[in-house]
Amino acid sequence: MAAVTLALPPLALCGGQAAVSLSGPAWPVVGEQEVQWMEQVVRSGNWSWLGPHEQAFCDEYARFIGTRYCIAMANGTVTLQCALQAVGVEPGHEVIVPGLTWVATAQAALDIGADVVLVDIDRESLCLDPQAVEAAITPRTRAIIPVHLYGCMCDMDAIMAIAQRHGLKVVEDVAHQQGSRWRDQGAGAIGDAGSYSFQQSKVLTCGEGGAVTCDSDSVYETAFCLKQVGWKPNGHDPGQRYGHNYRITEMQCVLLRAGLERLPEQTIRREQSAAYLSAGLASLGGPLRAARRDPRVTRQAFYAMTLHFDPEAAAGVTRAQYVAALQAEGAPFGGTYAPVYRNPLLNLYDRTSPVPFRDATRLQDYAALRLPETERAVSDTGVLLSHTHLLGCVDYLDQLLGAVAKVNGQLDRIRSHYASAAA
Ligand SMILES: Cc1ncc(COP(=O)(O)O)c(C=O)c1O
Repeated sequence: MAAVTLALPPLALCGGQAAVSLSGPAWPVVGEQEVQWMEQVVRSGNWSWLGPHEQAFCDEYARFIGTRYCIAMANGTVTLQCALQAVGVEPGHEVIVPGLTWVATAQAALDIGADVVLVDIDRESLCLDPQAVEAAITPRTRAIIPVHLYGCMCDMDAIMAIAQRHGLKVVEDVAHQQGSRWRDQGAGAIGDAGSYSFQQSKVLTCGEGGAVTCDSDSVYETAFCLKQVGWKPNGHDPGQRYGHNYRITEMQCVLLRAGLERLPEQTIRREQSAAYLSAGLASLGGPLRAARRDPRVTRQAFYAMTLHFDPEAAAGVTRAQYVAALQAEGAPFGGTYAPVYRNPLLNLYDRTSPVPFRDATRLQDYAALRLPETERAVSDTGVLLSHTHLLGCVDYLDQLLGAVAKVNGQLDRIRSHYASAAA
């Protein structure tokens, strides 16, 4: 008897109708509270310089993260610079950074004169691999920057144990995960300092902005003075240190305060959607699955859901082709950042930066560097779904799963589509 095959609708990639008809949720979310506050701030003329909304936000955010202090700043790059300097990183020190992160993590360390040592990532979480960290430590290493990337946290037990063993400082880059918790401790409250970005795409946003959190008085005082033209906190008293203007405005803090009120509920919704999609993908089978959640993560904030594509289960279809087929269906999955060491900014640094502190005799050659797990995730296996889609309704999530089912059922057609396009 001939096998019966159920006809699947034609792929959108090949001219068929897209599987996803619903629109994804809008981002950023805006409420009445910030509109009201914004009008008050605009009329008050009190727009900057440690205003009441900034001070209130810092109190509220420190409480949310679980630290004694929070300092709000202009963006999540200067926060990394100030945090690194505040924990004692000086020109010539080495700072360990994952090979997969936004370029700013590395730039911030370079711009304060440190040598960035890029190390590989863990295959499952796409975050800093603790073993690679330990292998990269030299007598000049001063700090580690674990980046809680996309939708997984770093293994903070292992990283803190390594830091303690070697006397290193830890600055957590929490640009992606405001609200994640590791064994019920806030991301950014585990290391010596936490750094956050509030740029438009982030889960807590005011367009551009950032913050540093910490518990130590001296880290707080130094980071504050670096942000506030050399001042000491709580006074107009000039300190003993150089400082910049990395201030934030009252208008930005209004957006942050209102966004922070919504964030806990949004984080839970994103967790629920990620669990729903993860279970849905598992029951579909096929080459796409969600990254496994580490049980030590007691709250997972998602800049994006981290997923893995298995090329061996994809009948010769590559990750790029698979993602393109999903996108054609209206399912907005995407790939990862490029490896940091391939970023043009990093490779322009030695020739053109105005802060040429790097020691030419001991440089890691970024242009030649190849980190195998970073390469694998970037080129072949890493897939992301932005956090905005995790705020979608169940019907929308079902349509995303429907698109994956449709694509999974026609891998041979995708392969022949690309083979005939190449011929
Ligand atoms: C992981 C990471 N670190 C740092 C930053 C820098 O933040 P900002 O753009 O606010 O300077 C970003 C921004 O996207 C980021 O993704």
